[in-house]
Amino acid sequence: MIAKIKQLLEEVETLKASNAEELEALRIKYLSKKGAINDLMADFRNVAADQKKEVGMRLNELKTKAQERINALKEAFDSQDSGSCDLDLTRSAYPVDLGTRHPLSIVKNEIIDIFGRLGFSIAEGPEIEDDWHVFSALNFAEDHPARDMQDTFFIEAHPDIILRTHTSSVQSRVMEVSQPPIRIICPGRVYRNEAISYRAHCFFHQVEALYIDKDVSFTDLKQVLLLFAKEMFGADTKIRLRPSYFPFTEPSAEMDISCNICGGKGCPFCKHTGWVEILGCGMVDPNVLESNGIDSKVYSGYALGMGIERITNLKYQVKDLRMFSENDTRFLKQFEAAN
Ligand code: DAH
Repeated sequence: MIAKIKQLLEEVETLKASNAEELEALRIKYLSKKGAINDLMADFRNVAADQKKEVGMRLNELKTKAQERINALKEAFDSQDSGSCDLDLTRSAYPVDLGTRHPLSIVKNEIIDIFGRLGFSIAEGPEIEDDWHVFSALNFAEDHPARDMQDTFFIEAHPDIILRTHTSSVQSRVMEVSQPPIRIICPGRVYRNEAISYRAHCFFHQVEALYIDKDVSFTDLKQVLLLFAKEMFGADTKIRLRPSYFPFTEPSAEMDISCNICGGKGCPFCKHTGWVEILGCGMVDPNVLESNGIDSKVYSGYALGMGIERITNLKYQVKDLRMFSENDTRFLKQFEAAN
């Protein structure tokens, strides 16, 4: 009996199976009710009493070893199986789709860069503002139509708190805490109570520029405007200034550039005039300087403000303003090359 156990032990230790069926066959051969080990167990009662102890021990050892071997083979199969199905260590990683710069950011950065070369530094202010910084400090009369509910988003519980309607509010934010020379460029989002369509939105983006120092004149403004237009739209670009009105500038003007789509010949975009309006500007009204703690007898300045969407439309001919805020990557990806 001991010899038989020894022989089985040797067999068991070298068991091999190359698939699940072979393994099951081994389990049946050795460990099932009709298996070799159970046969020996059945013979155990015939073993002489003085040998029972040793034979019993060896039988148990054989049973444990067989069980262990079969378990080990099963485990090897399991891990091999899942490895071949799910885990390919040679596979390359999933490509990460990189985002692209938003066209409005591309144009905003270009504007900031042009003014940055002229010594303007960036200033920012809050989008949720108070009436003072958006209107009163900028010389808007109490009954100015821009304060009307139609244009401005008010907060019912706090009539003094509004969403800024223009980035000119940053002018007063900066003036109230600093003295000239002031040379700032203020990019940001603004809000107006407009019906959303292809040509108007309830929020859009502006860039404001402000320069205050001794002896700043309209000539300085005009030179900066011309330089900006040529840098932004090309060296052949022409500008023209038309008299206009803004509460915070006196005199005020609106600037047109020669239409960069038709080169000034006339097209639907410029309504066949050859010119397109791109910004408002003027000399800072002395009332604004005084309201914000700057001595208007010593200092003068100019300001200008433009819509980033408008400049972007001119550069890229985007026909529907809503595209800018829809986050459709098919639209946004087209500007990749311009990055
Ligand atoms: N704040 C004006 C607007 O939203 C734009 C503007 C016009 C800004 C003239 C200026 C300026 O600084 O001088 O329509």
